[in-house]
Parts: sequence; C-alpha cells; structure tokens
Amino acid sequence: MKLDNLIQNHQTIAIICNQWGDTGKGKLIDYFSEWADVIARGNGGNNAGHTVIVNGKKKIFHLLPSGIMHDKINILGNGMVIDLKVLCEELDELKKENISYKKLMISQDANVIMPYHIEEDKRTNESQKNGGIGTTGKGIGPCYSDKIARKGISIGDLFNKDTLVGKIKKASEFYPNVNIDKIVEELEPYKEKIEPFVKNTISKMHKLLKNNKKILIEGAQGLLLSIEFGTYPYCTSSECSINGVAFGVGISAKAIDLPIGVVKFPYMTRVGAGPFPTELGKDSEKYCAKGLEHDIKFELKKYEIPFDEENNDIKYDHKHPNIIELMNSDNPFLQGIGIRLAGEEYGATTGRPRRIGWTDATAARYAVNINGPNLFLTKVDVLSGANTFKICYEYEDKRCNLLEFSRDCELLEQINILYRVYGGYNEISDIRTYDELPLNLKNSFEDFEKFSGGKIIGVSVGAERDQIIIR
Ligand code: IMP
Ligand code: MG
Repeated sequence: MKLDNLIQNHQTIAIICNQWGDTGKGKLIDYFSEWADVIARGNGGNNAGHTVIVNGKKKIFHLLPSGIMHDKINILGNGMVIDLKVLCEELDELKKENISYKKLMISQDANVIMPYHIEEDKRTNESQKNGGIGTTGKGIGPCYSDKIARKGISIGDLFNKDTLVGKIKKASEFYPNVNIDKIVEELEPYKEKIEPFVKNTISKMHKLLKNNKKILIEGAQGLLLSIEFGTYPYCTSSECSINGVAFGVGISAKAIDLPIGVVKFPYMTRVGAGPFPTELGKDSEKYCAKGLEHDIKFELKKYEIPFDEENNDIKYDHKHPNIIELMNSDNPFLQGIGIRLAGEEYGATTGRPRRIGWTDATAARYAVNINGPNLFLTKVDVLSGANTFKICYEYEDKRCNLLEFSRDCELLEQINILYRVYGGYNEISDIRTYDELPLNLKNSFEDFEKFSGGKIIGVSVGAERDQIIIR
C-alpha cells in the first residue's frame, strides 16, 4: 500500500513509541511531515534526542520537533518542559544553516526548566550506579514536580517580571542556593529571542482543527517510560501515551484519528535503570549503567571494529564480521553488544550504551490496549545476518500462571519469559513491498500481531527516508 492510502481521510496522526523510547520515531515524523500542515510536540523536554539531517549535516535536536526542517507550523505544546538555553541554541543552529523557523509556536503554558531543577535532578540522581533511576539529568522530573505541585513557572510567566520574581522567590524556599537576580538576568536574552513565537497554542490548535488542518503529533520517550503507565518509579515524569501527547498539545485523545505505535523489532532497548524482562545478559544493566565508560568508541575498540571519526560523527561498517559474530554468540551478553553495535544503540542525549533485549509482545499487548492497534515496526534491518531471533510472547509467574504486563517492577524482575525462536534473515534494506520480505520474518510479524493484538501497518528497513514499507 502507498502512504497516500494509509493517510487518506485522516486529519490527526500521532506517532508515539510503544516501548522505552528510541524506536526511530524521528524518521517516521520526517516521512509523515510532508502530509501535515502542523507538527506538534506535547510531552517531555530535552531528555529526548533525535537526529535530523540539516543541509547534509547530522544534527541532534532535543526540543525542536523532528518536523522543524519542513516549512510548516511547528508547535512546542503546553505539556512540554522547556530549557530556554537549549531551545535558543537549537534555534541558533537553524539560523546558522539559513533554515527558517518563523512558523514556530511555543506554548505560553509550557513549563520552564530552571537551573535549580537541573541541579536538583543531578543531586538526587547522579547516576543509576547508586540505585537511582538513571535520569538524563536535564531537570525534567523536578520541573514536572513543580508543575503538579502548582509551583511551576510557565513560559507566559517569563513576560511578567513581578510574577517571575515572585515565583523564583517561592522556589528559593524549596531549593538551596537560588540566586534570584542572577536567574532573572540569565533568562533575559532567551526571553527576548523566543518572545515572537510565544502563543496561546491551545486555542491555536483548536482553530487549526476546526479549519481542517492536518496535524501530526510527535511523541517523545515511550509508553513504558510514561508516568501513568510506565515502570514506575523507573520512568520519566511526563505522560507519553496517546492521552499525554494529546493533552500536551491541547486536544483530546479522541481527536487523534490515526495513532501509530512504533515498535522496534525484533529487538528493543532501554536507557537508564529499571526492569527489562527480555534483556540480553544479566550483567547488561550494570555494564550499561557505567554510561560513557562503555560508549560507542569503547565497544568499537574492544571488539576491533575499525571506524572513522569526523566532527563527532563516528562511521563504521554496521555489518562488520566481528559484529555479526557477536550477534551470533551463545553468550547473551555478547549477543546484546553485537545488536547494540549493529543498531548503533547509544543515547542521543547522553551517549550511554542502550540496554538490548528481544522485542516483548506482552508489553506490546499492553501498549496496544492503551495506544490503539496500529503498529509500525522499525529497525528490522538491524538483525539481518543473525542466525536466529526471538520474540517474547508471554510472561509466566513461578507457578506457570500466565501474566499480563504489570507496572509492578519487583514482579517484572521475577517472571519467566516464554520465547518463540525464528530463523534469521539476510539483508532486507532494498525491499520495498511487504510481500517480498523473507518468509520467516513475515511469519514472525503475523505471530506478533496475534500475540499483541495489534496490526502492523508499516515496516522500516533502514535509516534512509525511502526505506519504508507501507503494508
Ligand atoms: P528523565 O526523563 O531524564 O527524568 O529520565 C527518566 C528515565 O527515562 C531514565 O531512565 C532515562 O534514561 C529515560 N529517558 C528519558 N528520555 C528518554 C528518551 O528520549 N529515550 C529513552 N529513554 C529516555
Ligand atoms: Mg531518542
């Protein structure tokens, strides 16, 4: 099927992740952006990270929607938390590359990440090594905490000095070492820069909907990291489900007529601490918690994979024989490293190695029940060259009773996982129709639909824009 048929008769599409983030949503957003009049983000902040190609150069953006490269209305919604310094740096990047962002809108209702939020985040959770959550350290949690506690500072507050000073003063009662004057002074240049773009985006959104504009909502993080449905407390502080991305741009989830849940397949990843039932290797969590100590360069050197480095951009053969050998190792920990290297799974925000495991259909079933049935599978090409792959299809407790996905983190650490094993497949990156995909891969897709209750509407088979199959 063509994209045109898929999106026909739809006005509002949301692209959200059904796992622990990093499923390659950015590429899909880019793909769907052509169709959209408006691209809006409604949750999270600069804990997210997506690679965008600007004038042939690889750039990582954390706040601006992946759709910013398209000359459309781009909205940073009311549900977001915004670090003004990071936002202004990203705008400067665009300016430097002569990319117009005059159609950008920043919600007056989004909350501002203040310096004391970042300090608090770092202080309470320097790393997951000490049993912490392993946050990105960007102040996300403390900023949302203040929002819920009704002490938050919104973008709109910045433009009323008395309100702003009063609110920072209030914060100084709760946070150590808050220098009110210094903070106000530092905010000044950022305020000036963003002022033309600050809008009541909630009412704008309502108008855009009424005027039949086509709206693309870009999720951040993923369902299993969501504050309401994720593996609490090992989760982020925003609501990443279809509900959260909808309210975060000022609309009801009911207004989203095509939600698309993105699923990495047949492997998935997690960054930070917390349960990961299908993780490869019992030492993987600890090893990945060492963060930059075990970054991409460390692993490439350790496993003797040659690479070139140009402007922080590391290039290597993702299907190097040593990588394939690791992927086919009998040792699950090494197998995980092989998949990490094949998929280049290192945090875009923190550079940390991502934990690797098999795709979990029990978690996907949970996600389908919340985010709806449409599934888009990504990174499927990464596993080509592996002799076999596995899909988790059920959880069992100690007495062999079947269990659904649960937010009970202790339980998730104890369950037994049932896997189905499939024969591997060769290179699929050049395939553009569903029918041409290898038979055992298609069989695994059909099983995955049965296990998860979802419907696979598309498959991504490479990093390039056209490496997509719409079913
Ligand atoms: P926070 O969002 O910085 O508070 O981090 C909370 C948890 O969410 C940590 O485990 C992070 O690694 C994880 N996390 C936050 N943002 C992302 C993301 O964009 N992709 C993957 N994991 C994320
Ligand atoms: Mg990411």
